Amino acid sequence: MNILLIGSGGREHALAWKIKQSSLVRRLVIAPGNPGMEALGELRAYKATDVDGLVALAREIRADLVVVGPEAALEVGIADRLAALGIPCFGPTAKAARLETSKAFTKEFCSRWDIPTAAYGVFERTAEAMAFVDTLKPPYVIKADGLAAGKGVAISEDRRDAEAEIEARLRGRYGDAGSKVVIEEFMVGEEASLFALCDGERAMLFGGAQDHKRAFDGDLGPNTGGMGAYSPAPVFTAELVGAAQSRIVEPTVRGMAAEGMPYRGVLYAGLMATDQGPKLVEFNARFGDPECQVLMLRLRSDIVPYLMAAATGGLDRIGEPVWRSEVAVCVVLAARGYPDSPIPGSVIRGVNQSFGAGVAVFHAGTARKADGTLTASGGRVLNVCALGTTIEDARAKAYDAVARIDWPGGFHRSDIGWRAVGR
Ligand code: AMP
Ligand code: GLY
Repeated sequence: MNILLIGSGGREHALAWKIKQSSLVRRLVIAPGNPGMEALGELRAYKATDVDGLVALAREIRADLVVVGPEAALEVGIADRLAALGIPCFGPTAKAARLETSKAFTKEFCSRWDIPTAAYGVFERTAEAMAFVDTLKPPYVIKADGLAAGKGVAISEDRRDAEAEIEARLRGRYGDAGSKVVIEEFMVGEEASLFALCDGERAMLFGGAQDHKRAFDGDLGPNTGGMGAYSPAPVFTAELVGAAQSRIVEPTVRGMAAEGMPYRGVLYAGLMATDQGPKLVEFNARFGDPECQVLMLRLRSDIVPYLMAAATGGLDRIGEPVWRSEVAVCVVLAARGYPDSPIPGSVIRGVNQSFGAGVAVFHAGTARKADGTLTASGGRVLNVCALGTTIEDARAKAYDAVARIDWPGGFHRSDIGWRAVGR
């Protein structure tokens, strides 16, 4: 098979690493990829949102499957264009990707299909939004409607702060993402990410993980795209997963099909384990980053038949995926200044050494200079991942590798997996 993988982050490096292990793959082309993926496939310099370029590339290489990493490519309709050409695509159409790209769409979808989530309202005017705020207890959850790279959400402790956050969104602090504001009831519980592959008609659970959204140790500091992850997450008891499957994942796949926008690809359900059972925080239309990295480390099965079945139908004809019994941990190394203003260009040394069995270092925001030097070129820069027999063992291996990477321009959290330790 010829596979085109779209994206350039740690998630895509982990996907490329796993896809490359498949005996079914003859050619792997990655657009645009990053320096860590040089040895895994042919890198081609197309942006993830350059739909014309990517579609032409898929034709040129006679792709049997296109795997879409980032939501930005889905939002601009890469799956729609490939469908028109009959090229299988792992990732939903732009309409179906609204489960991620529009919070208002998703909340309304959840009410139509009785999917448990926080009570909410969608508003275009501050006065109406505040009238709804006054029916809730603090803290107040205020979100921009569209994609805002994880930065559109504010949790306000008091009314006055809530009003300022609402006004900022309606005045366009997040560009188009802010033309509507979504206000939600605050849900109390532990958060975790559940993944399901979907083929338009049915869903197959595909692992779970827990992310760390805040920048600093102790869950302090600003929200980020994710500073680390581990899998499995002990919060996912069989009971919680069963309830999430029957009350959230399955109704979503059925509802999307019934509404004429069958969902294909991976459905990422961000869940809150509340005392009333699992409730949906958000959907994403792609794998989590860095959750994908720990899933790929734990996945024993060949991933390619799963990606293909989700893209073309037939998830009922392949068996459940097989996972390693080990625990996987991923520590994100970010450039100083992340998330607000990461400082680019610092030199990174020591990434190419051997870290031993069960350790993998995935690149995210790195660049390679002409002389071969590796430098930081983004916010989240490296993902140091390890498998261990226990969470403690996996953490020790990951942090041991982190300590051997020489990068004064970076920082990381030192408490990844704390919720699982000793549980
Ligand atoms: P989102 O972008 O919707 O995932 O929101 C970002 C983060 O804000 C989530 O990961 C949660 O930690 C938090 N959050 C969002 N909505 C709620 C809610 N209704 N109740 C409690 N926390 C929330
Ligand atoms: N790690 C959170 C996300 O991928 O959205």
